[in-house]
Amino acid sequence: MDVTNAKPLVGATVSIARDDFLGGRFAADIQRLLVERSALVFPAMHLSNAEQLQFAATIGEVFLVGGKETQNISLDKAINPTADYTRGAFFWHIDGANDPIPAKATMLSVRIMPEDAESGDTLVANTYAAYAALPEERKAALAGIRVRHALEASQRMVNPDPSVAELARWQAYPSRSHPLVWKHRHGRPSLVIGATAHYVEGMDVAEGNMLLCELQEWATQDRFVYRHKWQAGDFLLFDNTGAMHKAAPYRLDSKRQMLRTTLHGEEPIA
Ligand SMILES: [Fe+2]
Repeated sequence: MDVTNAKPLVGATVSIARDDFLGGRFAADIQRLLVERSALVFPAMHLSNAEQLQFAATIGEVFLVGGKETQNISLDKAINPTADYTRGAFFWHIDGANDPIPAKATMLSVRIMPEDAESGDTLVANTYAAYAALPEERKAALAGIRVRHALEASQRMVNPDPSVAELARWQAYPSRSHPLVWKHRHGRPSLVIGATAHYVEGMDVAEGNMLLCELQEWATQDRFVYRHKWQAGDFLLFDNTGAMHKAAPYRLDSKRQMLRTTLHGEEPIA
């Protein structure tokens, strides 16, 4: 297996023999790299649905979404019945931040390429590196702060003027309180922020919003972000614990389509 870093702090391209990839020969190395680099690109893999699942099983347990192991991510409602929620992916987020244990990782195979240059890229921000680079006094000030995460927060970004019925639907999903700084079992802390961050608990609303905005701006600096420009057949694996991600917005009538598989989380945010 051959690994080339994309930037000093984030991203890597992995070249690996197909049999080794599918057979899990380097599964332990891939999982270690995933935490270090946040995003791993395996170019020109052209994986079938079954092959994507075969690889997924080498590094974790597949998390079923709507009872399914794979999802077609598209804004076309004929292909993706929850396309309205998919637009929430245009904003930095952690998948399943409202769940007790968020997903461990997410993987995408490109099925239909985005049509326009720059649009439809996938961006991944390393929130381990972002936390590590904070000044020490800032780190000390963040200790003990908790943030309420809710679907309402992320959905308001795509639909800022909801009906009562829509708001009730979002609020039917339980919100969740998380520490702002996740102290992972392996020892490296990360920031838990993004579109699902609804408010900072016990803090004045304006002050809390400013704190979240400052941290988001900090964590999404170019030096912490890998931006993937899709090429036919690419397979992208990204961390969902010490990283957040988003899609660069693309046209609402775009045919862009990804095959997604998500892995079960293994550690609660604590
Ligand atoms: Fe996502």
